[in-house]
Amino acid sequence: MIANHEVELAVPGDATGISLLSRNVIEQGLSWSWTRRRVANSIADRSTNVVVVRQENRLAGFAIMKYAESEAHILLLAVHPDQRRKGVGSALLAWLEATARVAGIDLIRLEVRASNAGAIAFYRQNGFREMHRRKRYYQGIEDAVCMARDLWLSS
Ligand SMILES: CC(C)(COP(=O)(O)OP(=O)(O)OC[C@H]1O[C@@H](n2cnc3c(N)ncnc32)[C@H](O)[C@@H]1OP(=O)(O)O)[C@@H](O)C(=O)NCCC(=O)NCCS
Repeated sequence: MIANHEVELAVPGDATGISLLSRNVIEQGLSWSWTRRRVANSIADRSTNVVVVRQENRLAGFAIMKYAESEAHILLLAVHPDQRRKGVGSALLAWLEATARVAGIDLIRLEVRASNAGAIAFYRQNGFREMHRRKRYYQGIEDAVCMARDLWLSS
């Protein structure tokens, strides 16, 4: 059974844990770009939502989404390896989507590493569709698959 996961806004003290999880499970094989300082700046940025799910006071997962005029862009989303396939990622996405709808956003988009079949399946399962590829998007090393969810078509 999938538990009901509480999604909360991140606080400055979450920056280190988020940046380490990003380095370990998202940016592996690339140079580390989501440093503690960059994550802290996102937490402080009024046009960005940084959210976390905790399990027994430890970081189980997080997501970072930046708002533009009518679109929002998921910059990062990850779940700790020990906490996967329990609905944590879906809970984070559901929170972001509900908040984007309240903010009048039409479209949520994101990029995912082309080799990351698990994440592509996860986003598909959550209503995202593949749009196109961006060649060598990740530090010139790896292609990105660009995905989007149209909130008007999925109310
Ligand atoms: C992708 C990721 C965020 C999924 O998080 P999660 O909490 O395990 O996802 P959920 O439990 O909400 O999964 C919901 C559904 O998505 C699909 N799904 C999730 N992970 C999957 C995988 N590795 N392979 C295939 N389908 C997957 C399944 O349909 C799953 O439902 P099920 O468990 O009942 O079969 C997690 O594996 C992760 O952090 N990966 C590393 C970081 C990453 O790739 N981030 C995304 C790019 S920034």
